[in-house]
Amino acid sequence: MEVIIQPDAASASRLVARLIARDIRRSTHFVLGLATGRTMESVYAELARLYRDEGLRFKHCHSFNLDEYVGLAANDPCSYRHFMSEHLFSKIDIPITNTHVPNGLATDLVQEAIAYEKAIEKSGGIDLQLLGIGRSGHIGFNEPLSAFRSRTRDKALTPVTIAQNKPLFPSGRAMPVRGITMGIGTILDSRRCILLATGSEKAAILSQAIEGPLTSMISASALQLHPRCVVVTDEAAASQLTGHEYYRWVFANEPEWAEYR
Ligand code: F6R
Repeated sequence: MEVIIQPDAASASRLVARLIARDIRRSTHFVLGLATGRTMESVYAELARLYRDEGLRFKHCHSFNLDEYVGLAANDPCSYRHFMSEHLFSKIDIPITNTHVPNGLATDLVQEAIAYEKAIEKSGGIDLQLLGIGRSGHIGFNEPLSAFRSRTRDKALTPVTIAQNKPLFPSGRAMPVRGITMGIGTILDSRRCILLATGSEKAAILSQAIEGPLTSMISASALQLHPRCVVVTDEAAASQLTGHEYYRWVFANEPEWAEYR
């Protein structure tokens, strides 16, 4: 794992978009794992800008989102499919048939989960998985005590996650209490992953996830097992990390990061 600390959320998001763009530009077939949430909005805005202004093309890309709310239709304004259309898919040239988000309305969620795993496998596997971290320590909707070997399945949301996401639902509207999510095992199978965490409200959980012990109480700690994981943060989210000096040295000196300094 490598940790890159940027001065603010805007530069952290821009860096993540550039890392994604570099891999897309280098490939002829690319499978992108996508996340939703407030943190991702600026990453997708930057990817859309790179498409508009700098010739980044997505025609050869396939995408798989991490998760969806159980019970929400794709065209529901609160669904993750809708979030993706609004923030990314409608702004770039990815063929919509290449985009995948679990079906929150599936009558048989077990079959939906199996089919989702099969579709990922058929696409050749995820080349780059983008991740955010929830206040419960989740990645996707892998709430505490998710098995590190879990695969796509439906999962009950914790009160912490419900409180985190409730403001995104119109007042008076009930929020779903279950999600269908890629498992931690599914995420760990990706060839590379990037976790983006910004803002002081992520500082405590981020330090536990990346510098604390491996524990299924904090699903994101499983990323310590991933051979190619980069964590990009801003100063606020990095404020409780103890390894600053080393992380900054690596970013300043390793040749891989030369073009991003
Ligand atoms: C959603 C997802 C979640 C979010 C996390 C952070 O697809 O994967 O794990 O990344 O809940 O959400 P924000 O960015 O809203 O703080």
